[in-house]
Amino acid sequence: MKSEKNWFRLMLGYAENSRSKLIGAVILSIISITSGIYPFYCMYRIIDAFVQDTVTKGYVVGWCIAALVAFAVKVLCFGLSTGLSHWAAYEVLAGLRKRVADRFMHAPLGTVQDHSIGEIKNIIVDKIENMEPPLAHMVPEGAGHLVLPVVSIISLLIIDWRLALASIATFPIALVCMGLTFKISGENFDIYNRSNAHMNSTIVEYIEGIEVIKAFGRAGVSYEKYAGAITQYKKFVIKWLRSTWVTMKLAFALFPSTMVGILPVALVLCNGGTITSAEAALAVMLSISMVGSLAKLEVFSESMRQLKNNVGELQTYLEMEELPEPAERASVSSYDVKLEGVRFSYTGDEKDEVLHGVDLTLPQGSFTAVVGPSGGGKSTVAKLIARFWDVTSGSITIGGVNVRDMPLSQLADLVSFVAQDNFLFRTSILENIRLGDPKASDEEVIAAARAAQCEEFIRKLPNGYDTPAGEAGKRLSGGEKQRIAIARMILKNAPIVILDEATAFTDPENEDKIQQSIAALTKGKTLLVIAHRLSTIRSADNIVLLKKGGIVAEGTQEELLEKSPLYRSMWQAHIGSKSWSVSSAEKEGNINVQNA
Ligand SMILES: Nc1ncnc2c1ncn2[C@@H]1O[C@H](COP(=O)(O)OP(=O)(O)OP(=O)(O)O)[C@@H](O)[C@H]1O
Ligand SMILES: [Mg+2]
Repeated sequence: MKSEKNWFRLMLGYAENSRSKLIGAVILSIISITSGIYPFYCMYRIIDAFVQDTVTKGYVVGWCIAALVAFAVKVLCFGLSTGLSHWAAYEVLAGLRKRVADRFMHAPLGTVQDHSIGEIKNIIVDKIENMEPPLAHMVPEGAGHLVLPVVSIISLLIIDWRLALASIATFPIALVCMGLTFKISGENFDIYNRSNAHMNSTIVEYIEGIEVIKAFGRAGVSYEKYAGAITQYKKFVIKWLRSTWVTMKLAFALFPSTMVGILPVALVLCNGGTITSAEAALAVMLSISMVGSLAKLEVFSESMRQLKNNVGELQTYLEMEELPEPAERASVSSYDVKLEGVRFSYTGDEKDEVLHGVDLTLPQGSFTAVVGPSGGGKSTVAKLIARFWDVTSGSITIGGVNVRDMPLSQLADLVSFVAQDNFLFRTSILENIRLGDPKASDEEVIAAARAAQCEEFIRKLPNGYDTPAGEAGKRLSGGEKQRIAIARMILKNAPIVILDEATAFTDPENEDKIQQSIAALTKGKTLLVIAHRLSTIRSADNIVLLKKGGIVAEGTQEELLEKSPLYRSMWQAHIGSKSWSVSSAEKEGNINVQNA
């Protein structure tokens, strides 16, 4: 996989726009860490003067000041380096989060829905956040911590090559242990990720489904699934840590143990007169100076593995399939919508095909209704026109232009879609409606709300239009949410309007009023209405009967009643349900007769 090989380059690629800050952070870190060695050299000069018996007060003070200045440079440069690297890191995280969200926006809806909310939250929040320590610490500090041992070993080499060799005496065993750790733990990384994602999804599902769990009194079963995922994760992580515990701890202990080799060698060399005692002291100090850096490098090597994994996973989201779209807006001659030989399968698999060659024309300014049994493909037709998915074969055109040949933003301008279930954002009702046209004034928003029969219930809310809709609109009833979505549609004022069961949850009295408003406001627009209540679409110019993914009949109400037995039986069932509702209302002494 491409991302396997170049993960480090990919990560630096994420930081492209913050490159100068990261380079600055690396340079400052190298200056900081190497200035950290200088005080050891100052100590060496002082010890040496003591050994030579040439020490003076001024000499000691001079070298102490030099050590202090080096230390101050170290602290200052480190502060500046981490400041810059954090700045860069958070810029990168923000950029990545926007890129993933943008990718989701342009991907087919099915690709987005293939990922659970838990998975998406895990990648956008956690996985991207996990890139902060590597970017802010590993890249700049790692460079410094790599340079310091190299400078120390070269300095040891200058004193005596045997000292340099002794300082890395424990490296071979440490590297073997580290290699073993990586091998054992690497094999489990995928399981770790899967287990983590499963836990995340289960938690989200448990919280999201809490209403159903309560309603069916299934708290026990659902809790078991939730607790099971957490226990499974815990068990796995403990087992995983156990499997690498010995080799990892050995590697961590041996890698920075520079003193093990250098102390005896320095003493022997000093004893034999090959090096002075001050040089022996300097060698020991240099080996001590390396300890911190080597230990840090080891920690970084661990986070590097995690990072490699994160980058790989993130990359699958950043490379997620997008709906192809041109950059230039197309010139659309009319607002006719035409479906020709449309076949579609949600899975891409022929055996799962849900539309089997649908031909349908919605002339500009006409009112078309699509009716039919549940699961017949009505909503699918609507979603394909709005290009939530691309057709498997056949074509959908607007004014002669294939919807694939216009930018998604242009299509969004042309089509208003009120879906079966509508989402409200966690903001005020006013802003939720304004989504239809962000430039609309408060008065225009309120006028749209009034036309959609929202005014009455909104006025009753504690803060009227400024009342928050509550997370995902949980505060409002199904019918109220639908009316807000209709107000959004009215405000958007697009030339093509698709209403998918848009008034299904609304009570008959309000539905009647909304129908009148919709009829008035969509005059001249290309209107596609999907409805189960057949009385609401009686006046349609064309009624299309869709069953099992194919059109079985179309025509006006009268024509269909005459020629389609299915439509006739649906109509009869509809009238039957209406007379039933009338008679039950009569029984309660609350007569509300509607003409069927
Ligand atoms: N996201 C999806 N992934 C896979 N299959 C789907 C998806 N959405 C719908 N389907 C399937 O496609 C078929 C048509 O569904 P569609 O929602 O278009 O029916 P519908 O006519 O709108 O039904 P209803 O009247 O109940 O709303 C159904 O068999 C349904 O199970
Ligand atoms: Mg539907």
